[in-house]
Amino acid sequence: MTRSLWLDTTQGTARREATLPSTADVVVLGAGIAGMTTAYLLAETGRSVLVLEAREIGGGVSGNTTAKLTAQHELIYHRIGSAAPAYARSQLAALEWVVTTVARTGVECDLERVDSHVHTTDPARLPILREEVAAAVDAGLPADFVEKIDPPLDAVGAVRFRDQAQFHPRKWLLGLAELTEAAGGRIIEGVRATGLREGDPSIVRTTAGAVRAKDVVVATHYPVFDRGMFFARLEPTRDLVVAGPADREVTGTYLDETTHHSVRSVPTPNGPQVIVGGEHYRVGDHVDVEARFARLADWAREHVGLDEVRYRWSAHDMSTLDRVPYVGRYHPRASHLWVATGFGQWGMTGGTAAGLLLRDLVAGLDNEFTRLYDPNRFSLRAAGSLVSANATVAKFLAGDHVRALTKPGLANLAPGEAVVTRHGTSMVAAYRDDGGDLHTVGAHCTHLGCLVAFNNAERTWDCPCHGSRFDVDGQVVQGPAVRPLRAIPTKEEEAR
Ligand code: FES
Repeated sequence: MTRSLWLDTTQGTARREATLPSTADVVVLGAGIAGMTTAYLLAETGRSVLVLEAREIGGGVSGNTTAKLTAQHELIYHRIGSAAPAYARSQLAALEWVVTTVARTGVECDLERVDSHVHTTDPARLPILREEVAAAVDAGLPADFVEKIDPPLDAVGAVRFRDQAQFHPRKWLLGLAELTEAAGGRIIEGVRATGLREGDPSIVRTTAGAVRAKDVVVATHYPVFDRGMFFARLEPTRDLVVAGPADREVTGTYLDETTHHSVRSVPTPNGPQVIVGGEHYRVGDHVDVEARFARLADWAREHVGLDEVRYRWSAHDMSTLDRVPYVGRYHPRASHLWVATGFGQWGMTGGTAAGLLLRDLVAGLDNEFTRLYDPNRFSLRAAGSLVSANATVAKFLAGDHVRALTKPGLANLAPGEAVVTRHGTSMVAAYRDDGGDLHTVGAHCTHLGCLVAFNNAERTWDCPCHGSRFDVDGQVVQGPAVRPLRAIPTKEEEAR
């Protein structure tokens, strides 16, 4: 129903083992682009590296993206002021590292150099775009302003970054996995981290046992082991994506800075295929995701000639307060616990840049980007955002109880419908499947207790506070939660 083109066009791997090694120099949690890049680079230094992935390689955010490999991150350069040159250097270095590594190792990942564009359909926004061009050029980027783009997408002007790239992210990750193993690393899928005791060594507890490690790298998108207050410093959002054959070629990558519509192509032997993103929303908001998918498909038909929706999926992003990722020490006192998170929609270069930085940090080496990405940085501007982010969370902690109580009971649920409601003394999240069976679980997220909301396209319970997602039987689909929703068996007759 919702599976990305990247996951559907690559074979799953068989890296599942019953027993974990008891020790490693470095345990990397998460086999997305940040985790796999870090693992490969550290394995190449001769360390014993163990990667643990709860699902499958690239099965999380990295396999559910539009996979633009670019230093153009919306309109960030005019916003981050004096940090712009360092940010530009690190993101360009990440892009070039992928390009040169692909050339050196021969990993087949459909890598193509293309121009990247951020455009607007609003004439009043043109001065901002020109400001962005000036900031990007000052930061050393190959940027210019163009009045027209092709396809037109109703644009009245665009910022263009020349010679960026796009690729197939899962082919790249599977290639990195093989390179990591060739360098002596190990990757085990289907193992979820459940706890951590920091020390020398640290002990990582998992669903398959415990592992001791000198260094632990948490690259799980939203960091598990929330001891750095990340829940208050990250905002989860989702963009929907549709893909399929189209009646025209698209050359380059495109993003509308106001509507968030995003367009790129994918090479196929059978003709043009486009990937279109959009319908940006905050995870767990009470939105009709099915209706949003339909709206996005209509937009894609009209603007880029999409013939048929062959794939659809959602990209799940975490943004930091100042839009610069958090990469480095997990908390101010951490000496061997590392984190990489908060790439917004730009995880392909962001995750790669994180790997390049973490390689040096774990080795105790200087890196010019350490301060830029320091997860423990603080600024007054960020403090303002912190207040507003947490006000949103407070709304979901308190307000949703009222909303839930006004919903009807369970017995009247039709197939395909879901509800959060009170049942006895519990708040219950209930879903009736297409076969008529009722699935009931506790409605409080096991991370910090917000009430979940139903996502009717992916048939998941999504938490509005920090973005955890659960299947209809309560199993974790996406963290930060690591425990399933509480099981609440509810007999049909009791539901009446
Ligand atoms: Fe934090 Fe649900 S993800 S409370």
